[in-house]
Amino acid sequence: MKAIYPGSFDPTTNGHLDVIKRASNFCDELIVAVLDNSSKNCLFTVSERLEHLKLLTRDMSNVIVLSFSGLLVEFAKKEKVNIVIRGLRALTDFEYEFQMALTNRKLSSEIETIFIPTSLEQLYVSSSVVKEIAKFGGDFSKLVPPQLEEEIHKKIKEIN
Ligand code: PNS
Repeated sequence: MKAIYPGSFDPTTNGHLDVIKRASNFCDELIVAVLDNSSKNCLFTVSERLEHLKLLTRDMSNVIVLSFSGLLVEFAKKEKVNIVIRGLRALTDFEYEFQMALTNRKLSSEIETIFIPTSLEQLYVSSSVVKEIAKFGGDFSKLVPPQLEEEIHKKIKEIN
C-alpha cells in the first residue's frame, strides 16, 4: 500500500514523527508531503522543512519526502496514491480533520483518509505550540526531535 502523509511541518514535531513511524510500519511506501504554501506565514521555508524531514527519515527506507502545492487530491493523482494519512490527537482535531477528509473525498471519490491516533506522550504537541514556546524563550526540547532544536532556536532569534 502506498500512502501520503501531508502537512505543513512547520516545524516537524515529535507528534509528526510518531505518525510517520507508525504509518511507515504498515505502508509499503509513504510519501511525506510538505505543503508549499507561500500565503501561509511559515517559520521555515519549504526547502528547510524538506531538509528537516529528509534528515529525520533517512533511516526509513520506505519513506520519501516531497513538496506539493495546490490541491492535495491533484498531487495524490499525480503520484498514483489513494490513501491519505492524518494523525489525530484530541477530539478537538476531529472537526477540522473530518471536514478535510470529506472535502478531499468530494474532490476525488477514490481518496480515502486513514486517521492514526497519536501516542499519549504527543497528545498536546503541535507546531504552533512549539513556535509559541520558542518565541517566549521556553523549553520545547521534549516536543521536537533533538536534531531540530538548534535550528528552531536559530530561526526564532533571526526573526525577533
Ligand atoms: O499540518 P496541516 O497544516 O494541518 O496540514 C494541512 C494540509 C497541508 C494537509 C491541508 O491544508 C492541505 O491538504 N492543503 C492543500 C490544499 C487542499 O487540498 N485543500 C483541500 C482540502 S481542505
